[in-house]
Amino acid sequence: MKTPWRPLGQLHEKADCSLARANLRGRKRTLTPLQPITNRKPPTLDAAARRIHEISTLPHVAVRVMEVAGNPDSGAGELKEAMESDAALSARVLRCVNSSAYATRSEITNLQQAIAYLGMRQVRNLAVTASVSQLFKQQEAIGDYQRDGLWRHLVAVGICGRLLAMRRDFQDFEDVFLAGLMHDVGIIFEDEHLHDEFVDVIQSLPEMESFSQAERLRLGFDHTTLAEKVTKRWGFPETVSAAVRYHHDSTQYQGDHLRIVQCVEVADMICELKQITSVGTQFVRLPKAALEDLSLGKEDIVVLTEDLGRELELNQDLLQI
Ligand SMILES: [Fe+2]
Ligand SMILES: [Fe+2]
Repeated sequence: MKTPWRPLGQLHEKADCSLARANLRGRKRTLTPLQPITNRKPPTLDAAARRIHEISTLPHVAVRVMEVAGNPDSGAGELKEAMESDAALSARVLRCVNSSAYATRSEITNLQQAIAYLGMRQVRNLAVTASVSQLFKQQEAIGDYQRDGLWRHLVAVGICGRLLAMRRDFQDFEDVFLAGLMHDVGIIFEDEHLHDEFVDVIQSLPEMESFSQAERLRLGFDHTTLAEKVTKRWGFPETVSAAVRYHHDSTQYQGDHLRIVQCVEVADMICELKQITSVGTQFVRLPKAALEDLSLGKEDIVVLTEDLGRELELNQDLLQI
């Protein structure tokens, strides 16, 4: 896929907090004790993760494709095999590959051609996107939270993280996309498996500093720790588990994939600034260390925000895959 890049602006002005503050003005910030709609005690983090793992919340193909992605010994053959187990999914991926976003010269009619043309990582990402998207087809709204809004947020963070990584000439930009696409998967786990508690969390948001704070008050853990446990059990790539766990504070991360986690963290902030929020309520936190490490100033954030709008237009098929 060829995307026309404009060079990043000069990095003389670091992003400043007014970007974030502007969006927080006027929001009520007093903590009040939560009034749960149910008195049920939430399960422990381990019990919740075990249950989600056992029920296999994500479609089988997504889990299998991620397993293939997480195993350095697997190749294109394994990816093709995993995808072929779901003919409808393969058809959706091929339809997307033949859409205008990929500018193929002639029609691509099978997975082998798609892998040869786009490469394994990009086809893997399309397979996961097409598979996970099924979870979001169901219309659901709780207050300002909408399930399809969360899907738009996930796709947008994937696309924005990839944009950022490409602009910084990182070779692993497709891994950034995948990490971004999955970063808030813990929220859908809560929605599906801890629904009553999740409703309480969403309803308490206007009075909270962050979504994680609301989760911790009601559940005792948040979507990042829950998703880390589940994605590790499923054998997802380390890059994904790292982003899932540390996208709200990359300074806590100690592993080998800091750059990927930082790209996702910044992309998450840009999407929140752009009102493409995960849970319908806007929470913007300025990841100062990540912005500094990636040499991103205010101008760069503005350019990335504009480019994200264009990329989202171009990738409408991804949202509907
Ligand atoms: Fe999050
Ligand atoms: Fe997010």
